[in-house]
Amino acid sequence: SNMSEEEMMNMEGMDAENGHASHTNPLELNDSTGENELALPPLVEPKDGIVDITAQQGKTEFFDGIQTNTYGYNGSFLGPVIRVNKGDTVTFRTKNQLSEPTTFHWHGVDIPGEGDGGPHQILEPGESEDVKFTVNQGASTLWFHPHPEGATAEQVYKGLAGLIYVEDENSKSLGLPDEYGVNDFPLIFQDKQFNEGKQFDYQAVRNEDGTIGDTMLVNGTLNPNLTVGKEKVRLRLLNGSNARKYTFKLNTGDTFLQIATDGGFLNEPTEMSEITLTPGERAEIIVDFSEYDASSNVALVNEAGSILLPFKIDVQKTNSIEIPRTLNDYVVTEEEKNLPVTKKLELFGMGEMVYINDKQFDMNRIDFTQKQGETEIWEIYNKPDAMGGMTHPFHIHGTQFKIVSIDGKEPPVELQGWKDTVAIEPDQTVKLAVKFNNKGIYMFHCHVLEHEENGMMGQVEVI
Ligand code: C2O
Ligand code: CU
Repeated sequence: SNMSEEEMMNMEGMDAENGHASHTNPLELNDSTGENELALPPLVEPKDGIVDITAQQGKTEFFDGIQTNTYGYNGSFLGPVIRVNKGDTVTFRTKNQLSEPTTFHWHGVDIPGEGDGGPHQILEPGESEDVKFTVNQGASTLWFHPHPEGATAEQVYKGLAGLIYVEDENSKSLGLPDEYGVNDFPLIFQDKQFNEGKQFDYQAVRNEDGTIGDTMLVNGTLNPNLTVGKEKVRLRLLNGSNARKYTFKLNTGDTFLQIATDGGFLNEPTEMSEITLTPGERAEIIVDFSEYDASSNVALVNEAGSILLPFKIDVQKTNSIEIPRTLNDYVVTEEEKNLPVTKKLELFGMGEMVYINDKQFDMNRIDFTQKQGETEIWEIYNKPDAMGGMTHPFHIHGTQFKIVSIDGKEPPVELQGWKDTVAIEPDQTVKLAVKFNNKGIYMFHCHVLEHEENGMMGQVEVI
């Protein structure tokens, strides 16, 4: 036939983003027209060791003169960037001011199970809880979001998500761009579908294989632009979407440097022409704007070319930052490479029929146990179905793991760093070296939030 791939996908009702059959038409992302200045979440640090975090409902003006009903932490949409230091003992003073139960989950944080905020740790409306822990991991860009059983996807969709920056001696001594909102910017990417009244009608657009939308919000800003200096700029990317994956590139075709994965710095800055992030994943990149000038047309775009974030260059603003050649000392040891597989997981299914090892999530069932402080090899296989299957972003709570191999091969250099979420393609087998520093019950699941909610989740108890 002479049909283009896109026409064929439209005919078969395939979802262009994940190549999987779905009940909705493919939703291409609209271009950012760039008229709004990118919002920056407030940067907060503990005061006397305490950070207040309140989940609340509110109204947000994405469209001029129109109020959209949303959720947020300490505000109407999204939450603050919470900056903490390795070694600090901090208390997250969480409060639920929603009219429904929620939890506060710290994605990527090495935290005792009782503070992890999984589906067992429900806060009813009006309840508060102090989550006290010692920051026990290296510099990284982590995040937080709710995790109540059956309502995670909708609550995140409505706006509950925030960032956690961990800094340490290393990150402070490297001389990287680190001035918040000056040369170091958080970028939270979320696609939404607004209804005619410009509201989020989650239940109306919910897709059991992952809810996608045609409208991009970056840090909650519709049609954003970002003004940067004629200099090296650090961008901390979070895919905070329910399901859509992004392949970020520059419209100029220029490369950038990736400096960090989910859980910390890469050993060396790595030159990339594009980077793919599935839901839950983060990366830090350095873009060198010094070669551009005020008239340059530079933007971050998605794979197919949709404009996600156009940049304006302020040529008066420059720095002379040199990015060091060595950033970290991450290593997968010979011992870890030679450990036997002790946990096998098979991801399978689609829509409401999604399984891990033929089982759906049951809050009263512990699927695995593991000893605190012991490294085990988890082997995860994404079993394709008759339709081919889809990519599952596999996430484990309470730890940063190492990718030992992908289909038996060493992972690409940009995945040779601490991770808490790994994209597993259909028919791929990924081996992870997993160690928990704390005890408790932790979830592992697909980070397509509708899959997680439909049962593609299990529990490991660390003893
Ligand atoms: Cu981002 Cu189970 O979480
Ligand atoms: Cu999935």
